Amino acid sequence: PTPVIIDCDPGHDDVFALWLAIGNPALDVRAVTTVAGNGSLEHTTLNARIALSVAGVHGIPVSAGASHPLSRKAHAAVDIHGENALGGPARLPTPTVPLDPRDAITLIADTLLASPEPVTLIPTGPLTNIAALITQRPDVIPRIREIIWMGGAVDRGNVTPYAEFNAWADPEAADIVFRAAQRKDAGGHGVRLTMVGLNITHQALVTDEVIARVEAVGNNTAAFGVQLLKFFCKTYAEVQGMPAAPLHDPVTVAIAIDRAVATVQRTHVVVETKGEYTAGATNVYLLDQVKGRDLNVEVAMQLDVKRFFDLIVEAIGRLA
Ligand code: BDR
Ligand code: CA
Repeated sequence: PTPVIIDCDPGHDDVFALWLAIGNPALDVRAVTTVAGNGSLEHTTLNARIALSVAGVHGIPVSAGASHPLSRKAHAAVDIHGENALGGPARLPTPTVPLDPRDAITLIADTLLASPEPVTLIPTGPLTNIAALITQRPDVIPRIREIIWMGGAVDRGNVTPYAEFNAWADPEAADIVFRAAQRKDAGGHGVRLTMVGLNITHQALVTDEVIARVEAVGNNTAAFGVQLLKFFCKTYAEVQGMPAAPLHDPVTVAIAIDRAVATVQRTHVVVETKGEYTAGATNVYLLDQVKGRDLNVEVAMQLDVKRFFDLIVEAIGRLA
């Protein structure tokens, strides 16, 4: 199996990303790290531990990372994810999975160095931890097999007209990661980067049929998951006017499992950090705009929706 580290801010869809990763035999989850995003670091860290505990998976170290973006204030997505970042269940269970005392950067670096083969990083929140790793621990960069990130968008955003939440939350961090993906002769480290933006995650819609399929799995994880999905669909309907919520984050994990689940286009992408109205916009160069530019990013485009939800349902079926 492919060794992976999930860096997340759970968050409803982050929980499904964790479940897909731990429930699919093609991946070996070596560590889980958390970042402030959908909620405060306290909430996202607790929720990551809860997600693993509900699934009955123990033994994967979980550690906390950045409590705020590199140079901006944290803004929790309370309207979408609730006050505790995991709205829906009447009360959240006390996690049985402990907190690793190391900070996220140390845990990621230790995990990369301990692995004989390079490890895939899957960030599903703001890129604060990953940017800090790249800046503070350049020695471990060659141990990164690739980065598959949920964030950005080819066209429009979901927080501001042009910025998606994870990119908008910490544009400076996203900028560092996208620059690291540039060729060495263009100033980067040549890290392989796949951007899984709204243009593809909005194809992963949680319809009533999807909820019924998850419910039919019949285990504890599925029952907890259905409560999450119903809340997530309700807030998406209220806040974004969408009849079904997009299950953004697990699309990254599905790509790590099987790249054939999505088509990708290799192109040039830069992150806006200065715009008064556009900070966090991912500028995806398409068609002839790419001429002469470094093709630093693989942008995910078309999702095999049926295969994606099959993977989700099968993974939950392997959990507690
Ligand atoms: C992203 O923002 C968060 O609300 C979700 O967890 C996802 O990572 C979508 O814009
Ligand atoms: Ca997330």
